This record gives sequence, structure tokens and C-alpha cells, in this order.
Amino acid sequence: MWNYNIPVKIFQGEKILSEKKELLNSFGKNALLVTGRNSAKLSGVLDDLLKILKEYKIQFYIFDRVEENPSYDTVEMGAALFDEHDFDFVIAIGGGSPIDAGKAIAALGTYYKHDAYLFNESDDIYKNTLPIIAIPTTSGSGSEITPYSILTNRENKKKGIQSNRLFPTVAFLDPRYTTTLNESLTISTGLDALTHSIEGELKNNGTNPVIKSLSLKSTTMIKGNLTDIQKKLSSIKFRKDLQEASAMAGIVISHFGTTIIHSAGYPLSSFKKVKHGIANSVFFIDVLERISQTEEKRVLNAIEPFVSLQELKNFFINLDIDKYKFDLSDEEIQKWSEELVISQKRKKTPGEFDLEFYKSLYNKIRK
Ligand SMILES: [Fe+2]
Repeated sequence: MWNYNIPVKIFQGEKILSEKKELLNSFGKNALLVTGRNSAKLSGVLDDLLKILKEYKIQFYIFDRVEENPSYDTVEMGAALFDEHDFDFVIAIGGGSPIDAGKAIAALGTYYKHDAYLFNESDDIYKNTLPIIAIPTTSGSGSEITPYSILTNRENKKKGIQSNRLFPTVAFLDPRYTTTLNESLTISTGLDALTHSIEGELKNNGTNPVIKSLSLKSTTMIKGNLTDIQKKLSSIKFRKDLQEASAMAGIVISHFGTTIIHSAGYPLSSFKKVKHGIANSVFFIDVLERISQTEEKRVLNAIEPFVSLQELKNFFINLDIDKYKFDLSDEEIQKWSEELVISQKRKKTPGEFDLEFYKSLYNKIRK
């Protein structure tokens, strides 16, 4: 038994925004733009977008305060703008952080209490979520396609919210907007997409053939593109491949979510400022090896077209993932490992894990 549900209209192509500008005009006359501090400008999205908004006389407010691993304060700040503006839709531009924040703001801003705590509220909070238009400037999070928003909660921990109302209504994929990403960000975001593709398929295990196809295609594209990238960075073909691979991996996790690998990486991002894609990758092989002890076929299916865990391990080694080491205290390792034991994702991840295993994961990446 399987289902496929992606209610996002995806438009791909160079200059796709101007090609589809009438669509932008169909959402209303007052837009909230949610961005990070730089990427919307550097990527060229903002210039293209403002031209269209002005042409159609659509009012706009630019909220450009979203930081990496967006804090709840930032989301509340965005939602507070709804006290003074009558927004019709939200345009979220950037990597995963601005798009995730844009989704949360589109929900919280339309709730009667703009200072409500999203994590504690019922699904009612999403009832009036404004339409979200997502324009990615990185290729990794897949947030432009997913019903998730990952935020930093008031305890400084990364925590996700999820609702069908958080699916963007439209995603515009223009590979030109990702050409300004430097090498290390291209790698870390690309690895995030790779982990989505494989983690989602680990849970699917071939049951949903659409998802299996998307995972296989996504992993194949990332495998073929993510090494030796210095010369490819300004290539539109390279950027298009990664952008599509990321979107496909986004569809994979929209159906199956991620695994304990993502949960294990969250504290590294929250407390050690490790890039999200790297934080997943440092644990990747060890967790897959562990799952393989009891479910080898499942793992071999999920990593296709890699033919063995050794081949996948070599791929990570080529990207120097094994060189990342961090200052971690005994207390941090104990606390984070205990949290993983009771994590929701633990229950949904195939394989056998215990406290000692989690501690060994963190000990292995310790300086
Ligand atoms: Fe991720």
C-alpha cells in the first residue's frame, strides 16, 4: 500500500520567474518577502522579483532577518508584522532556513495569537496559513517541496513542525539562482539532499515505487556531480542537476521523513555551528553499517546506485567528511545520546540502537 501526495506546483527553468509572472499576480496585492541577510540579493532573485512585483503594483515588505537555524524569536518577529500589514501571501527566498522560517511565519502570522508557541499548538494554528511561494537559492534542504519547517526552539534545540498547510503552493526552480553558492556550501547542501534521498528510501524500502525512482535518480545525480566540483561551480547544467536532485529528495522526505541520522546531527548544528549537511554526513556510514547488521538488503536498496557501503564510504572520504572532528564534552555526549534514545525518529528508524551506540557515534567525531 502506498500513496503519493505533493500539492506543490513546481516550475523549473532559467528565467522561470519572468516566464510565470502572471502566476505571481494571482495571489493578491500584498506580499511578505522572507529572506536571509544576503542570498536573495546576491543570487539575483530579489532584483528579478521586485521588477515583477512593481510591474503588477503588488505591495511588498522585505523581512530579511532570517539567520541560519532560524530562532523562534525570528519567527515571532516576522509574525508580528501581520499586526500592521494585511499580507495576502508569503514569498520565501533562500536556503532551507529562510524557506522554513517563511512557512512558520505564514502560519503564525495568520493565527489570532502572533506570540503563540507553534510547537505547543493544535493543528488549528495552520488553518489560515497564507499561500507560500518558495524560491530556493541552495540545493539541499528540499524545503521548497516539503511540509516541514525546522526551527530552533526556545531551548536552543532544532525542532520541526509539520502540516500539509506548510507545503509551498508554488516552487520556482531557477538554477541560475544557485550559481553564487561557494564550494563548501554547495557540498554541504548537496550532502543534505543525498542524506534525504537515502534516509527516506531506507524507510520506504522500495514499497512506494514513485519514491524509490525519485530516490534512485536523486542519489545518482548527486553521486555523479558532487566530486571534483571546483570547475563546475558556475556551470548551469551542474546547478540544474543538483537543484533537481534536491527537489526529488525533498519529495522523498515529504513522504517518509528523515531518520535518527538527522536527529543525531541537530545538536552539532545548534551548539557547534556545524553545517546541517555535514552534521548528517559525519554519522552516516556508522548508522548505515549498524542497520546493515540486521537489514543488509534494506540498506543496499536505499543507497543505490552505490553498490556497497564501502563505495558510499569512499564517496564521503573523497569529500573529506572523515576529517571533521569537534570539541565535545562527556556531558554533551551523554545528554545528546540520552535524547536520541527517546527521540521520535528513533522509533521510525529501522535497525537496533542503544545509548552506547549513540555515545560511540559522538565519540568517533570527537577531537
Ligand atoms: Fe536535512
